[in-house]
Amino acid sequence: MIVINFKTYKQSTGENSVKVAEACEKAMNETDTEIVVVPQPQDILRVKGLETPVFSQHLDPVEPGSHTGSILAEGIKQAGATGTLINHSERRLDPDTVEKAVEKAREHDITSIVCAQSPEECGKLSELEPDYIAFEPPELIGGDVSVSSAKPELIEKAVEQSGDVPTLTGAGIKDSEDVRISLELGCKGVLVASGVVKSENCLEALKELCKGYEK
Ligand code: G3P
Repeated sequence: MIVINFKTYKQSTGENSVKVAEACEKAMNETDTEIVVVPQPQDILRVKGLETPVFSQHLDPVEPGSHTGSILAEGIKQAGATGTLINHSERRLDPDTVEKAVEKAREHDITSIVCAQSPEECGKLSELEPDYIAFEPPELIGGDVSVSSAKPELIEKAVEQSGDVPTLTGAGIKDSEDVRISLELGCKGVLVASGVVKSENCLEALKELCKGYEK
């Protein structure tokens, strides 16, 4: 599984979210690799008609009511999302809120990917039994050096600490070799943002990543 986090880049906001999502759909169909798109919540509706599963970037574990600015499970579900990131490095939550968000996702049959910054955190958060744990060292996010080349030993540890919860990894991932190494170290997939969203040609960048599944 390759999860493409659109973040809040200009290149993937509003109408542009559709262009990136269409490239993801094309790459998925051409390479037969599962690709999940993660647009901003207000763009979920724009891309939901495509074949790629759509996840939300965040979920607030609140009930419908007076919570201005919150992202509701009910809302993302009705918009067309089937999953969500929780506790991304750029949207951290306190441990109690992470737990509630995982429960809320489960309650609404929303696939949860809980992000962790260290193997130790992977261990702690795996006790919540989310659908996936995503290990992303914050200092490598958005950079040119990938987690798979700089910290392979931490990926291995993260997988080990996550126990039975399938593990993803991300940060600086750009090419098939990064994907291949991550899979070899026990990950079930990768999370990618800048390597695709900021590339000159999203489709080519995606197809290059998918090659990591062939090796
Ligand atoms: O959620 C994925 C992300 O944090 C990794 O970002 O730009 O390093 O691929 P990037």
